[in-house]
Amino acid sequence: MDPSLYDNVMFTTHRPEVIFTSGKGSWLSDITGKHYLDFVQGWAVNCLGHCPEVLTQALTQQASTLWNCSPAFYNVPQLALSEKLTQASGLDKAFLVSTGAEANEGAIKLARKWGQVHKSGAYKIITMEGGFHGRTLATMSATGKPAFGTMFEPKVEGFVKVPFNNLQACEDAIDESIVAILLEPVQGEAGVLPATQEFIEGLASLCQQHNILLMFDEVQTGIGRLGELFAAQVYGVQPDVMTLGKGLGGGAPLAAVLAKDSVCCFEPGEQGGTFSGNALMCGLGLAVLNTVNQNHFLDQIKDHSTYLQEALATLFGKHSLRGHGLLLAVSLEQACASAIVEDCFAEGLIINAPNEECLRFMPALNVSKPEIDKMMSILTSVMKNRCSA
Ligand SMILES: Cc1ncc(COP(=O)(O)O)c(C=O)c1O
Repeated sequence: MDPSLYDNVMFTTHRPEVIFTSGKGSWLSDITGKHYLDFVQGWAVNCLGHCPEVLTQALTQQASTLWNCSPAFYNVPQLALSEKLTQASGLDKAFLVSTGAEANEGAIKLARKWGQVHKSGAYKIITMEGGFHGRTLATMSATGKPAFGTMFEPKVEGFVKVPFNNLQACEDAIDESIVAILLEPVQGEAGVLPATQEFIEGLASLCQQHNILLMFDEVQTGIGRLGELFAAQVYGVQPDVMTLGKGLGGGAPLAAVLAKDSVCCFEPGEQGGTFSGNALMCGLGLAVLNTVNQNHFLDQIKDHSTYLQEALATLFGKHSLRGHGLLLAVSLEQACASAIVEDCFAEGLIINAPNEECLRFMPALNVSKPEIDKMMSILTSVMKNRCSA
């Protein structure tokens, strides 16, 4: 491949000079024919792995039926997916979009509108230090990632950051201007940091007490990633608003805002988007949900999670392990995570380092035990070489 071809892609991040050509299940192949075991899966997106038969069929079938009839009309997959999502989540309405950031923008706008209608114009949203909500201007402003601190100033106003898992700090931040609390139940980009049970339950009762909205960003945790369909079920707490993305489309751009009836107060013209409720994407989302939302599928995620956790605990120590389901991380004693990720990549294994002290694992939800064994064998030999170097 002519290296100058890379120059046509706008630079936004450092990428290895490898070109991927195909994928199947947990495996990716590059243009030279090298195979990679993929434990990142498009950033926790391809929940059924690469090119799963069930999604290829759903896509093909929908592609020959209807792609897009404009967001100004209803279509069959949009209605079916909205019904499935509301039934599964216990929420009442779904607004379907393309990306996690767009879903969070929608949730932020919905909270602000609800504040105008029901809370005398309250508009500020409490978000968490370390939390991640996307890369649009408002979702970057809601994000508590230190690196975003001074980027693209001025930020969108109206987000009050508090330390994660600190209920008192949340309570102290609530005043008449606050309309909602928005958080990831497990902070993914911060390195897989789960909220404590007490924190989530405490937030739910604070929200009730002060009549403000509890909003879960489940873009990374939703659609079976934690071993239940939603993190809300892991914690046994019902939010007023939930956002989904990533796994919902199984690798294609699909995201959602789900909300209680009592919160839905948009008037015509206030919310929309060309691809909202797109039939082609919704057809895929429906097939994803039908597959993941089967008891044995979720049971298998839990079983394989235990298997992977035991293997990681043997290599890194139990104390260094955190996460739920197939969103797991280990903390490292030395700050060398990106070097380990690079070594693994050279050996044909894709894992992720959210920061220098942490390795993250987010394989396909249908990853097999032999694939977990293979991943561990590559990682073990990389760790051995690194640590004895
Ligand atoms: C929790 C969370 N929210 C929102 C987003 C943004 O999603 P997208 O990149 O699809 O806009 C991400 C992406 O990593 C995420 O992890």
